[in-house]
Amino acid sequence: MGMRWLWLLTLTGLFGPSAPQDLFTHVLVFPQKTNDSYVLVKATPEQPLQNFSVCLRSYTDLTWPYSLFSYATKAQDSDIALIKRRPGEYQVYVGGKSVSFPVPEETPMESQHVCATWESSTGIVGFWVNGKARPRKGTQKGYTVSNEAVIVLGQKQDSRTGSFDASQSFTGEMGDVYMWDSGLSSRDVTAAMYNSPLKTPIFGWRNFPYETAGEVYLKP
Ligand SMILES: *[C@@H]1O[C@H](CO)[C@@H](O)[C@H](O)[C@H]1NC(C)=O
Ligand SMILES: *[C@@H]1O[C@H](CO)[C@@H](O)[C@H](O)[C@H]1NC(C)=O
Repeated sequence: MGMRWLWLLTLTGLFGPSAPQDLFTHVLVFPQKTNDSYVLVKATPEQPLQNFSVCLRSYTDLTWPYSLFSYATKAQDSDIALIKRRPGEYQVYVGGKSVSFPVPEETPMESQHVCATWESSTGIVGFWVNGKARPRKGTQKGYTVSNEAVIVLGQKQDSRTGSFDASQSFTGEMGDVYMWDSGLSSRDVTAAMYNSPLKTPIFGWRNFPYETAGEVYLKP
């Protein structure tokens, strides 16, 4: 199914209700490079966002650029996005503009837990890797992120082509996905790493509203 269909189905609510699940001790496995496998997150913020935070854990040996979290609105395909550009570098998008965060890669390979936060009043973007804060940066001061969004894990949304691009797809395992309409402290980040968030998220792994398409499997 193409992206345009996703928009129609999501914004008209045609996906229908399905009970969110507690995915504690589970991961989503994306076994292969495709242009049609993804996870649709079936929850959006109630109001436009002046602040947001996103956390997730991924485990992969990919070396090509891949999209972990893609929050597309009518205004911007990457109104919010979390991209791993290459080993050792993440990009956080806000309103279509990105900031880069170099990160040390562990040997032997480990899963990486990352959190990104942004606040409109200063434009400051915070970034944590495995609970450790990286130096803060900034972009899009004064911007507001629309709450009419389509949220996809594992593929990058691109309205120019109207479809997903296998070359930016995620292969590997993903879990512990959370989003909030507020900032996070380092204490909040640590709590999210252990699936015990201190603040109520917009959506989170312990009560995750989602649907998979193509080859994505929930596994212990
Ligand atoms: C998706 O991938 C399949 C198989 O590789 C290909 O045949 C198809 O044209 C691709 N679709 C798009 C929209 O790129
Ligand atoms: C966004 O965060 C800033 C700084 O933490 C805070 O002052 C402001 O009230 C927040 N705005 C909303 C709408 O939550």
